[in-house]
Amino acid sequence: MTGRTATFNCWNRYKKVAFIWFISAFCFYVLFQMLLHNSSNTLSSPSSDSSNLNTERRSKLYDKMARDLDEHGAAFLKHGETSQSLTIWDIFTLKDGSVTPVLKPATPPVRANVLYLNSEFSVPIADAVKNIFNPYFDKAIWFQNSSMYHFSMFHASHHIVPVPATKEEIEAEASSVQTVAARICPLNIVLDRVVLTSTGVLLGGWQVISGTDPITIRARLKNVLPHAPEKQLYDAAILHTTFARLLGPPRASSTELKTSDELQFFHELVNRLNSQIRGFKAVVSELWYVEEHDVLALALNGKMNIHKFKLGCSRD
Ligand SMILES: *[C@@H]1O[C@H](CO)[C@@H](O)[C@H](O)[C@H]1NC(C)=O
Repeated sequence: MTGRTATFNCWNRYKKVAFIWFISAFCFYVLFQMLLHNSSNTLSSPSSDSSNLNTERRSKLYDKMARDLDEHGAAFLKHGETSQSLTIWDIFTLKDGSVTPVLKPATPPVRANVLYLNSEFSVPIADAVKNIFNPYFDKAIWFQNSSMYHFSMFHASHHIVPVPATKEEIEAEASSVQTVAARICPLNIVLDRVVLTSTGVLLGGWQVISGTDPITIRARLKNVLPHAPEKQLYDAAILHTTFARLLGPPRASSTELKTSDELQFFHELVNRLNSQIRGFKAVVSELWYVEEHDVLALALNGKMNIHKFKLGCSRD
């Protein structure tokens, strides 16, 4: 290979990577805008006797998320088609026959506060998701690691508004989060519904039966993390876990579908999953402060540093 060809390939690769990042950023933006909609000024008003209102707000949110696929179509398929050389496969690669993410360092690291779902609850869900989706998607799907099922609560720093912090500041943040965790009561929750978004994210939206409401949890975290980005990534009421990310179309042989039937097929799979796991109950008893050293580390098994805190339910 000549030096010129190498330079050319390198430049080509650079363009590819840049394009993929643009597409990813765009997908996130669309999803976040959708979730941020009607989420204003809730962080400052912690719930008291408003649990019915919170439940209703979550229901509406999940209804809206469920409509997203019909309203915006399967965007994750269109991006796959943009050009044969520009696919989601630039972020994921096939290694020994399985999908492997191409990890990129996050600078500065993202600092996320998440509620953790124990494997006692996540494994049965992950099994159901795999049983239903694996036969049709083969390699074109990325499953969330069942040891890492989580509910994103509040970011001390995220990729849109990075808030750099020193080692000492990070330790201080972690210990503040620990004091918040000590006062939060474990959440008894129930799976309200499974949703597939237009960006190919398969997620579960949950309701709270008892325990501290996510609105209260986010308000308390905001209180002790004053430097956190004003604009957070999600609606203050939402309680959701990502189950899987669809990376491409279903196997042609399995469906023989026309493009117009594809949405119908996705709905059918989601309905099948809903009929199996809707109403599933779980208990959440840990809050994690996570430094994500790779982009999307929690989602992609990247490098991270996790501070785990048990929910204490203490009065002071
Ligand atoms: C899932 O997460 C656990 C805990 O971090 C890790 O030990 C395991 O290797 C992960 N699994 C995969 C397939 O990456």
